[in-house]
Amino acid sequence: MIWEVWQYATTPVALPYVKSMGFLKEVIATAARGKRCQKHWSPHYQACRNSILRAADACPRHRHLLIFGAGSLQDIPLDILSKRFERITLVDLVFLSAARSKAALYPNVCLRERDVSESLVDINAGTLKVCDPVHWLDDPEIDLVVSLNLLTQLPLMPVKWLESHGNFNEHQTEKLGQDLINSHLQYLQKFKAKKDTVVCLIADRWVQRFDCEGQLIKEFDPWWDVPQPVIQQEWDWQVMPLGEASNRYSQIHRVGVTIL
Ligand SMILES: C[S@@+](CC[C@H](N)C(=O)[O-])C[C@H]1O[C@@H](n2cnc3c(N)ncnc32)[C@H](O)[C@@H]1O
Repeated sequence: MIWEVWQYATTPVALPYVKSMGFLKEVIATAARGKRCQKHWSPHYQACRNSILRAADACPRHRHLLIFGAGSLQDIPLDILSKRFERITLVDLVFLSAARSKAALYPNVCLRERDVSESLVDINAGTLKVCDPVHWLDDPEIDLVVSLNLLTQLPLMPVKWLESHGNFNEHQTEKLGQDLINSHLQYLQKFKAKKDTVVCLIADRWVQRFDCEGQLIKEFDPWWDVPQPVIQQEWDWQVMPLGEASNRYSQIHRVGVTIL
């Protein structure tokens, strides 16, 4: 707990809403959960790393690699990728010290604190406006784009924020969630529209909750009913083993990979 408080106080933050909307707190909590659940999360991290390497194999050229939702960097095989690509840009709203230290080992890797949805300024101001992201679309050297366990996270904090800072009904916030997911998918498609750019989407596709006897008690679609592209490879990520969030249930996310 002291470490978490220390991180909250000392992590440099470039975007003003990262603290106020709760993103920094969430990233610190996820990092702490990742440590506690290391045994259960490492197969997921390994599967992500393998998928990224397969996507890199499919690239005719290896100039610029762009990864959205880089976060802790634990699901990125940075050592191998930094040798294969001329440069790598890792994007997230915020990076903790462990990720900063790791990235600093590689001269061709840079961290960018940016809002991939390009909508958070408006949402933070209390509107339901969702923009069409454009950043990096004009970079002709991008050969691989990876969206890494980010897509289903895009609506979570914005919806929570507007539920407590606006007068919106459930239908409006649900629509916001769907708009954020759709605009990210369209953004990825625009990279794909450029010849020879490979776009790899890694995202959870289905969530299941089990009681302590292993009986399914709840399941839901983390895509807010937005149609999903066909999965080409998949695995289960035991996000919350029994005893992590509760002694009464465990939670598994089915993760799917699509090369768009
Ligand atoms: C489930 S985590 C995955 C991170 C990383 N791949 C990992 O496993 O450590 C989702 C990440 O998405 C980031 N994120 C959420 N909304 C974002 C946005 N609008 N723009 C950029 N990053 C965002 C969060 O900060 C978080 O690091």
